Amino acid sequence: MNIVLLGAPGAGKGTQAAFIQEKYGLVHIATGDIFRANIKGGTPIGKLAKSYIDAGKLVPDEVTCELVKDRLLNGSSGNGFMLDGFPRNIFQARELDKFADIDLCVNIDVDKSLLMDRICGRRMCSCGASYHVSTLGGATTCAKCGKPLYRREDDNPATVEARINTYTQQTAPLVEYYAAQGKLFTVDGGAGSPADIFAAIDAELKRYLK
Ligand code: AP5
Repeated sequence: MNIVLLGAPGAGKGTQAAFIQEKYGLVHIATGDIFRANIKGGTPIGKLAKSYIDAGKLVPDEVTCELVKDRLLNGSSGNGFMLDGFPRNIFQARELDKFADIDLCVNIDVDKSLLMDRICGRRMCSCGASYHVSTLGGATTCAKCGKPLYRREDDNPATVEARINTYTQQTAPLVEYYAAQGKLFTVDGGAGSPADIFAAIDAELKRYLK
């Protein structure tokens, strides 16, 4: 089963990807994580991506598409894969259709009014865990591995606003794109806890696999 996870910044793509990965064993490919690893490693891709990410803009399509294509061709799994943050515009979706078969697009729909608080309150750990300050009770270290938590550099109000605008203009049209292919499943990502949202997604994935 090959899935695209669609949703605005802060909709909960990474949060739901962790649930799906644990239950279904899909390979998780998150373009944002790949770019951040490249920035940390000081690679040429990282140097290029940084200015776009800091401005809340999309990294150029040719770089992003090549990167995903390479991951898919070199890191497959018998269970399939899950794309988190790709495609992000119609061009990328068309390119993806040339090198992969997508079964389902899970669209996590969250009201814009919730996104700013979710992102600006997010705290990350280098082990991959993600939290929201409202549930940390003042803790500053990761409950899973004990390392210090940090805030992503692009999780500041100005950049978040730019990221939301980029989503509205370039990524939201993908909802129609996948609906037209009969592959769209939309879940209300603002109506419950992460576990509640996963229960709705899980029901759809089970239905699909039957
Ligand atoms: P990327 O890393 O993909 O960031 P994003 O799309 O902005 O998404 P986020 O990671 O911020 O949010 P999320 O939906 O994963 O939410 P999360 O689960 O963490 O991309 C970053 C940048 O890289 C882009 O701006 C772009 O520049 C570049 N890039 C990436 N892909 C690209 C591409 N394909 N083409 C070109 N450029 C690309 O949840 C957020 C918070 O909400 C957390 O604190 C979480 O605890 C909380 N939360 C989650 N679910 C719930 C819930 N149900 N109730 C309450 N709180 C919740």
